[in-house]
Amino acid sequence: MSDPVDVTVDTDDESESVRIHDDDGEVEAGDTTVRFSFSGASNDQAADGDDETPTGGNDEHPPDGNDDGDDPRRIVELDSVPSDSTLVFEARDGRRGVNCILHRSGDAVAAWRNSCPHQPEVPLDPGRGAIVRGDRLVCHKHGAQFERDDGVCTHGPCAGDALDSIEVTIRDGDVYLTDERFERAERR
Ligand code: FES
Repeated sequence: MSDPVDVTVDTDDESESVRIHDDDGEVEAGDTTVRFSFSGASNDQAADGDDETPTGGNDEHPPDGNDDGDDPRRIVELDSVPSDSTLVFEARDGRRGVNCILHRSGDAVAAWRNSCPHQPEVPLDPGRGAIVRGDRLVCHKHGAQFERDDGVCTHGPCAGDALDSIEVTIRDGDVYLTDERFERAERR
Protein backbone atom coordinates (compact mmCIF):
# COMPACT_ATOMS: atom_id res chain seq x y z
CA MET A 1 0.00 0.00 0.00
CA SER A 2 1.67 3.20 -1.11
CA ASP A 3 -0.54 5.71 0.72
CA PRO A 4 -1.62 5.56 4.34
CA VAL A 5 -5.30 5.07 5.12
CA ASP A 6 -7.13 6.65 8.06
CA VAL A 7 -9.38 4.20 9.88
CA THR A 8 -11.92 5.25 12.54
CA VAL A 9 -13.73 2.73 14.73
CA ASP A 10 -16.71 4.08 16.70
CA THR A 11 -18.26 2.19 19.58
CA ASP A 12 -20.82 3.37 22.14
CA ASP A 13 -18.04 4.43 24.50
CA GLU A 14 -15.05 5.22 22.40
CA SER A 15 -13.77 6.31 19.04
CA GLU A 16 -10.31 5.38 17.85
CA SER A 17 -8.73 6.85 14.73
CA VAL A 18 -5.45 5.53 13.43
CA ARG A 19 -3.42 5.89 10.27
CA ILE A 20 -2.58 2.59 8.63
CA HIS A 21 0.65 2.24 6.70
CA ASP A 22 0.58 -1.51 6.17
CA ASP A 23 -1.48 -3.89 4.10
CA ASP A 24 -3.03 -5.53 7.14
CA GLY A 25 -3.45 -4.99 10.85
CA GLU A 26 -6.07 -4.24 13.44
CA VAL A 27 -7.69 -1.30 15.23
CA GLU A 28 -9.09 -1.49 18.75
CA ALA A 29 -11.75 0.74 20.32
CA GLY A 30 -13.18 -0.33 23.66
CA ASP A 31 -14.05 -4.03 23.41
CA THR A 32 -14.19 -3.90 19.63
CA THR A 33 -11.32 -5.03 17.44
CA VAL A 34 -11.47 -4.54 13.69
CA ARG A 35 -9.00 -6.54 11.63
CA PHE A 36 -8.37 -5.53 8.06
CA SER A 37 -6.38 -6.61 5.06
CA PHE A 38 -5.91 -4.74 1.80
CA SER A 39 -5.22 -6.79 -1.28
CA GLY A 40 -4.06 -5.62 -4.68
CA ALA A 41 -2.26 -2.43 -5.52
CA SER A 42 -5.31 -0.22 -5.76
CA ASN A 43 -5.40 2.95 -3.72
CA ASP A 44 -9.20 3.04 -3.89
CA GLN A 45 -9.42 2.37 -0.18
CA ALA A 46 -7.52 5.52 0.66
CA ALA A 47 -9.21 8.44 2.36
CA ASP A 48 -11.97 9.83 0.19
CA GLY A 49 -10.60 13.35 0.05
CA ASP A 50 -13.64 15.00 1.60
CA ASP A 51 -12.22 18.24 2.94
CA GLU A 52 -14.71 18.30 5.76
CA THR A 53 -13.76 14.98 7.28
CA PRO A 54 -10.13 13.93 6.85
CA THR A 55 -8.35 13.04 10.06
CA GLY A 56 -5.42 15.23 9.33
CA GLY A 57 -2.89 16.08 6.76
CA ASN A 58 -1.82 19.62 6.33
CA ASP A 59 -0.45 19.89 2.88
CA GLU A 60 0.00 23.61 3.24
CA HIS A 61 2.78 23.14 5.71
CA PRO A 62 6.18 22.36 4.24
CA PRO A 63 7.51 18.94 5.12
CA ASP A 64 10.13 18.75 7.77
CA GLY A 65 10.72 15.04 7.80
CA ASN A 66 13.47 15.02 10.41
CA ASP A 67 15.88 14.79 7.49
CA ASP A 68 18.80 15.89 9.57
CA GLY A 69 18.88 12.40 11.04
CA ASP A 70 18.61 13.59 14.61
CA ASP A 71 16.21 12.51 17.34
CA PRO A 72 13.15 10.82 15.75
CA ARG A 73 11.04 12.47 18.43
CA ARG A 74 11.90 15.94 17.19
CA ILE A 75 8.81 17.46 15.59
CA VAL A 76 9.76 20.95 14.47
CA GLU A 77 11.51 24.12 15.59
CA LEU A 78 9.45 26.15 18.04
CA ASP A 79 9.50 29.24 15.83
CA SER A 80 7.63 27.34 13.12
CA VAL A 81 4.68 26.50 15.39
CA PRO A 82 1.87 29.01 14.77
CA SER A 83 0.13 30.89 17.55
CA ASP A 84 -2.77 31.89 15.30
CA SER A 85 -3.40 28.41 13.92
CA THR A 86 -2.06 24.87 14.29
CA LEU A 87 0.56 22.64 12.71
CA VAL A 88 -0.15 18.97 11.97
CA PHE A 89 2.20 16.10 12.74
CA GLU A 90 1.85 12.38 13.18
CA ALA A 91 2.79 10.55 16.37
CA ARG A 92 3.87 7.02 15.41
CA ASP A 93 4.19 3.82 17.35
CA GLY A 94 5.12 0.96 15.09
CA ARG A 95 2.30 0.53 12.59
CA ARG A 96 0.04 2.94 14.40
CA GLY A 97 -0.07 6.62 13.54
CA VAL A 98 -2.13 9.25 15.32
CA ASN A 99 -2.77 12.58 13.68
CA CYS A 100 -1.94 15.45 16.04
CA ILE A 101 -1.84 19.22 16.13
CA LEU A 102 0.66 21.61 17.69
CA HIS A 103 -0.16 25.11 18.88
CA ARG A 104 2.09 27.78 20.35
CA SER A 105 1.16 30.31 22.97
CA GLY A 106 4.08 32.63 23.66
CA ASP A 107 7.01 30.42 24.59
CA ALA A 108 4.77 27.49 25.46
CA VAL A 109 3.53 24.81 23.11
CA ALA A 110 0.69 22.29 23.42
CA ALA A 111 -0.26 19.26 21.35
CA TRP A 112 -3.48 17.32 21.03
CA ARG A 113 -4.93 14.57 18.94
CA ASN A 114 -6.39 16.18 15.82
CA SER A 115 -9.92 15.14 16.68
CA CYS A 116 -12.97 16.98 18.03
CA PRO A 117 -14.54 15.37 21.14
CA HIS A 118 -18.00 16.10 19.72
CA GLN A 119 -17.44 13.96 16.62
CA PRO A 120 -14.03 12.29 16.86
CA GLU A 121 -13.83 11.71 13.12
CA VAL A 122 -13.78 15.51 12.63
CA PRO A 123 -10.27 17.02 12.79
CA LEU A 124 -9.75 20.40 14.44
CA ASP A 125 -7.24 21.10 11.69
CA PRO A 126 -8.73 19.84 8.42
CA GLY A 127 -5.57 20.61 6.49
CA ARG A 128 -5.42 24.38 6.44
CA GLY A 129 -4.75 25.03 10.13
CA ALA A 130 -7.28 25.10 12.94
CA ILE A 131 -9.27 28.24 13.67
CA VAL A 132 -7.94 30.25 16.64
CA ARG A 133 -9.97 33.09 18.14
CA GLY A 134 -8.44 34.88 21.07
CA ASP A 135 -7.49 32.26 23.66
CA ARG A 136 -9.49 29.47 22.07
CA LEU A 137 -9.29 26.95 19.27
CA VAL A 138 -12.58 26.67 17.42
CA CYS A 139 -13.93 23.57 15.69
CA HIS A 140 -14.84 24.44 12.10
CA LYS A 141 -17.75 21.99 12.09
CA HIS A 142 -20.10 23.13 14.88
CA GLY A 143 -18.09 25.84 16.60
CA ALA A 144 -16.98 24.13 19.83
CA GLN A 145 -14.39 26.31 21.59
CA PHE A 146 -11.37 24.88 23.40
CA GLU A 147 -9.03 26.68 25.80
CA ARG A 148 -5.66 26.79 24.11
CA ASP A 149 -3.71 26.02 27.26
CA ASP A 150 -5.51 22.90 28.52
CA GLY A 151 -7.77 21.95 25.59
CA VAL A 152 -10.97 22.03 27.66
CA CYS A 153 -14.15 22.81 25.73
CA THR A 154 -15.86 25.84 27.28
CA HIS A 155 -18.60 26.41 24.71
CA GLY A 156 -20.36 24.22 22.19
CA PRO A 157 -21.88 20.76 21.89
CA CYS A 158 -19.05 19.05 23.82
CA ALA A 159 -18.69 21.64 26.63
CA GLY A 160 -16.84 20.08 29.56
CA ASP A 161 -14.96 17.57 27.41
CA ALA A 162 -11.34 18.13 26.46
CA LEU A 163 -9.07 17.52 23.53
CA ASP A 164 -6.87 14.44 23.94
CA SER A 165 -3.55 15.84 25.13
CA ILE A 166 -0.26 14.66 23.60
CA GLU A 167 2.85 15.28 25.68
CA VAL A 168 5.52 17.42 24.05
CA THR A 169 8.42 19.46 25.36
CA ILE A 170 10.72 22.23 24.15
CA ARG A 171 14.46 21.67 24.10
CA ASP A 172 17.05 23.97 22.56
CA GLY A 173 14.44 25.78 20.51
CA ASP A 174 12.88 22.61 19.09
CA VAL A 175 9.67 20.79 19.99
CA TYR A 176 9.93 17.10 20.85
CA LEU A 177 7.32 14.39 21.26
CA THR A 178 7.72 13.06 24.82
CA ASP A 179 4.47 11.13 25.07
CA GLU A 180 5.46 7.58 25.97
CA ARG A 181 2.62 6.10 23.94
CA PHE A 182 4.62 6.92 20.82
CA GLU A 183 8.14 6.32 19.57
CA ARG A 184 8.60 8.95 16.89
CA ALA A 185 7.10 12.00 15.21
CA GLU A 186 6.65 12.61 11.51
CA ARG A 187 5.69 15.61 9.44
CA ARG A 188 4.08 15.28 6.04
S1 FES B 1 -17.56 18.20 15.33
FE1 FES B 1 -16.51 19.74 16.45
S2 FES B 1 -18.10 20.86 17.36
FE2 FES B 1 -19.14 19.30 16.27
